[in-house]
Amino acid sequence: MSTKENVLKVLEINKGSTISGEELASQLNVSRSAIWKTIQELRKEGYAIDAITNKGYCLSLGNDVLSAQGILPHLHFQDISDRIFVYKTLESTNLTAKKMALEGALPGSVIIAEEQTKGRGRMGRSFFSPAEGGIYMSILLRPSLNISKSVLITTAASVAVCKAIEKVTGIRCQIKWVNDIFFNNKKICGILTEAVTDFETGHIEYIILGIGINFNTSNSSFPSEIASIAGSLLPTDENSKSEDSCSPSRNQLIAEVINHVIELNDNLESREFLKDYKSRSLVLGKEIRVIQIGDSESNLNGNLATDATAIDIDGDGGLIVRYKDGTISTLNSGEISIRVK
Ligand code: BTN
Repeated sequence: MSTKENVLKVLEINKGSTISGEELASQLNVSRSAIWKTIQELRKEGYAIDAITNKGYCLSLGNDVLSAQGILPHLHFQDISDRIFVYKTLESTNLTAKKMALEGALPGSVIIAEEQTKGRGRMGRSFFSPAEGGIYMSILLRPSLNISKSVLITTAASVAVCKAIEKVTGIRCQIKWVNDIFFNNKKICGILTEAVTDFETGHIEYIILGIGINFNTSNSSFPSEIASIAGSLLPTDENSKSEDSCSPSRNQLIAEVINHVIELNDNLESREFLKDYKSRSLVLGKEIRVIQIGDSESNLNGNLATDATAIDIDGDGGLIVRYKDGTISTLNSGEISIRVK
């Protein structure tokens, strides 16, 4: 680790408390002037570090610059501590994760960016990924189950994100099948699962679990086409100014998402998470509109739409619906989207 990474690590562990330059220097075995120079560098990168006379340096509680050092103190699985990669800007964390997977990155690797210039959404859509207040992360997983059941990974991931959000902020979110996460009737998180396959054998090598959360994204920044549906988990102004020791940080939420994803993924076959999935469902018992994307017999923006009632979730995460004529059918992710009426 570089001196900068080491200084940041100590500051993150002691976030909100002061640590003297002398102590930092002796802990890290470098000179006090090296510490001073490093602090200046970190400040230039946006870290809010106060210098308190006769006491030392303090990383402000309100500091929320993303970093591996800020994530690690909250991570339960220290064996992946050297697989957390944080970038300022990427086209798409899923794309970088794919490239890294093809170059041999280990499962459990996590790619995170402050901003995405070509964030990808489901069904070929783009995902709005501004630099301020978002979380864009991709986790590489090696599925231990047959790929025909891989939709379970996405389903479990939405439960993992809800649990992480609840732990860090106390907010209970809901899931709109398949895996959109809603708070106050606004979508605050989307999940895109992609696979890396061996071209020769067709064997699935990795699942890339891409998660995008509007953490404290300014409502006024959403483009007009998503402004009526997109929301933010936390209000922008309140959170950014908070110095409260309980104020949630993006680094903490990222760590908790990783913790919950790994925990649920190790236990997928038990399907226990489906109980949590159902209890957080935004659609069960509701009248919905089922939209087959790209169908030519169209009547809704070029897509086929049918009204139904959402009645249950099956053991593989499929949505069981009853159509108006009484027919019961199970919807499996793919090119189907639903709207709650
Ligand atoms: C959707 O709602 O359509 C899914 C959105 C998934 C967005 C995340 S952000 C991190 C990861 N990288 C991407 O390019 N997409 C996913």
